[in-house]
Amino acid sequence: MIQPTGVALIGSGSASPDSIITNHHLAEMVDTDDEWIKTRTGIAQRHVAGPELGLRHLAAQAGERAIAAANLTSEDIDLIILATSSPDDLFGSAAQVQAELGASRAAAFDITAACSGFIVGLITASQFIRTGVYKNILLVGADLLSRWTDWEDRRTCILFGDGAGAVVLQASETDNLLGFDLHSDGSMNGCLTLGYEPEGQTLYGETQVSKGQYNPINMNGREVYRFAVKRVPQVIGQALAKAGLTVDDIDWLLLHQANQRIIDAAADRLKIPREKTLSNLAQYGNTSAASIPLALDEAVRAGKVKPGDTIAASGFGAGLTWGSAIFRWGHR
Ligand code: UT7
Repeated sequence: MIQPTGVALIGSGSASPDSIITNHHLAEMVDTDDEWIKTRTGIAQRHVAGPELGLRHLAAQAGERAIAAANLTSEDIDLIILATSSPDDLFGSAAQVQAELGASRAAAFDITAACSGFIVGLITASQFIRTGVYKNILLVGADLLSRWTDWEDRRTCILFGDGAGAVVLQASETDNLLGFDLHSDGSMNGCLTLGYEPEGQTLYGETQVSKGQYNPINMNGREVYRFAVKRVPQVIGQALAKAGLTVDDIDWLLLHQANQRIIDAAADRLKIPREKTLSNLAQYGNTSAASIPLALDEAVRAGKVKPGDTIAASGFGAGLTWGSAIFRWGHR
């Protein structure tokens, strides 16, 4: 009989392309400068993937490291969830990652929720474990938004970078996903899009099909900024309430890495000291679905985040979507 169980996050991994674009490089490409980018966003550089590097390669690298950190092998993995908005294959890249990893027993599927993808994936994975269906799940957040960036648009090209981060979730006696909350507001969809633009192709008579193309990322930065600063503290408060916790119980605030000013504003509104915020924006920029697990993995490997620490994480972005998960790191 299937027994409902708790969820533990037991291993992390990450990967990023070697190639780096600094603010100074960008200043040679568009009308911007290092000072503007640093003071408005906190970003100093971002990693970008060349044509030889697939989303599946980077995702698999991060996944392999997370599986090793969890002291498992790829054969132990029951399910792979890949949160991405930039798959190598629009039909989904999770199965490609499964093949790269040789995780032959694992089912695999993609989740598309932009910068909220990792949080949505974490909550989705937890349901499969809580119901007792799966024991070991690999969750990867990976994006190569450099593919979809308009490198002539100074409002957006300064923000995004490529990367992948992963965690292994395992069935456990204690439940370390303490609380969560998810929201969407599709009426604000136009604020941040990577949209398909249809173009008619006549097949016969008046029958047409749509043969268009995806346009580069388009964002109303001010609107998304306002949305994030309002919604992120709110949703963390809601997830904390569901967990029966207060901000004083939080060891680390781990937000989607979009803008240092958003991280600082959310921390201030929640009255969480800035020393408790995790940030690697300066090195990576906004890596979309990868940003939370990438920052988490770095903090775990640096010995900052320790087993038993309570983390308040929040993702937000295109959709618009936003959500929060409060979890304890490790098996304890
Ligand atoms: O991951 C998904 C979630 N995404 C986000 O959370 C992004 C949220 N938005 C932001 O982080 C910020 O809105 C940005 C960093 C994108 C922009 O910062 P801002 O302080 O909101 O700047 P702004 O858009 O209000 O622009 C201020 C000025 C404008 O000039 P005018 O109209 O005041 O003359 C822009 O044209 O800065 C100008 N500007 C730039 N100047 C130099 C915009 N981009 C640049 C640039 N370099 N790269």
